Amino acid sequence: MKTLLLTESDIDKAAEIIKNGGLVAIPTETVYGLAADALNGEAVAKIFKAKGRPMDNPLIVHISDVAQAERLVSDFPQKARTLAENFWPGPLTMVLPKSELIPDEVSAGLSTVAIRFPSHPIARALISASSPLAAPSANLSGSPSPTTANHVYDDMNGRIDAIINGGECDVGVESTVITLAEETPTLLRPGGITLEQLREKIGEVKTHPAVLKPLEDGMNAASPGMKYKHYSPKAEVILLKGTQKEFLSYVRSHDGERTAVLCYDEEKSFFAENGITLGGMTDYASHAHRLFTSLREADRRGFKRIYAHCPSAEGIELAVYNRILRAAAFRIIEL
Ligand code: TXA
Ligand code: MG
Repeated sequence: MKTLLLTESDIDKAAEIIKNGGLVAIPTETVYGLAADALNGEAVAKIFKAKGRPMDNPLIVHISDVAQAERLVSDFPQKARTLAENFWPGPLTMVLPKSELIPDEVSAGLSTVAIRFPSHPIARALISASSPLAAPSANLSGSPSPTTANHVYDDMNGRIDAIINGGECDVGVESTVITLAEETPTLLRPGGITLEQLREKIGEVKTHPAVLKPLEDGMNAASPGMKYKHYSPKAEVILLKGTQKEFLSYVRSHDGERTAVLCYDEEKSFFAENGITLGGMTDYASHAHRLFTSLREADRRGFKRIYAHCPSAEGIELAVYNRILRAAAFRIIEL
């Protein structure tokens, strides 16, 4: 299959592809998504094939106005409305009981559906010109999510109908996922909308244990995506937990030829050859923004091992921690 490279002036062409049951990779404010008509089960099935994604891992449905969401769910509780008013459009996904319109391919047989209203103008324009879009991140299953059209091209060229180039994604990690289909709202995946922001608006929000730990045998995979290996570059990632002094001294004494260091701007001078910076030490939004692109860069430059700081678990750093922990297969060295 030839993959067309489109721009924001090709929304009509992209909408045609979607209406004909094809696949189009689209920019969003979080990461690039691989989109199909969410109401067409056959089209949605192609997404799983193109990504090599397990069929039991459900997809997020992207909408371009709240009225659309009302038709896709069977219950829209008050807390969901409050979150929608405060954080939509934006990087927040809500899991709610699904309506009959949702094909089984989207929800992987669950009774719920994940809904998100993205803020990116290209994503919104395409949804308005076609239909609600089912879209996972547009990477091959298991690898880091794409934050540029080039990343998508590297993974998906020849496997999908088109890619719309919308430049670099703003947030850089996937949306926050919260379920409101349970007694107490529960955070399933941290992202650009923080736990603190959610609690401020709706009160108690639990954190699913798999956000910070490997899913243990017998633990309920509230979000099927929790079961799978995620975000891994080819290089081995190792997290180091300790002070900056301990970090620098450990890395210097273990510095191999093909070892990269995910560092901060303030440390870049120590790693002239192999440092890849996430931004200023306390510029947490930048850490999120650059995380996946840095992991991909390490692979591109042929590094075999990546040392990284162990992030804190607060604010947007919780999202960075959750992703890098998985990229590191939960390996942390306490310094
Ligand atoms: O920012 C994002 O959310 C991006 C962009 C493209 O919008 N999309 C994205 O999709 O990250 P994906 O498929 O890579 O991640 C969706 C996550 C998975 O962990 C999946 O298991 C979970 O959401 N999920 C989807 N539907 C669910 C449901 N009904 N119940 C629980 N978890 C669900
Ligand atoms: Mg993904």
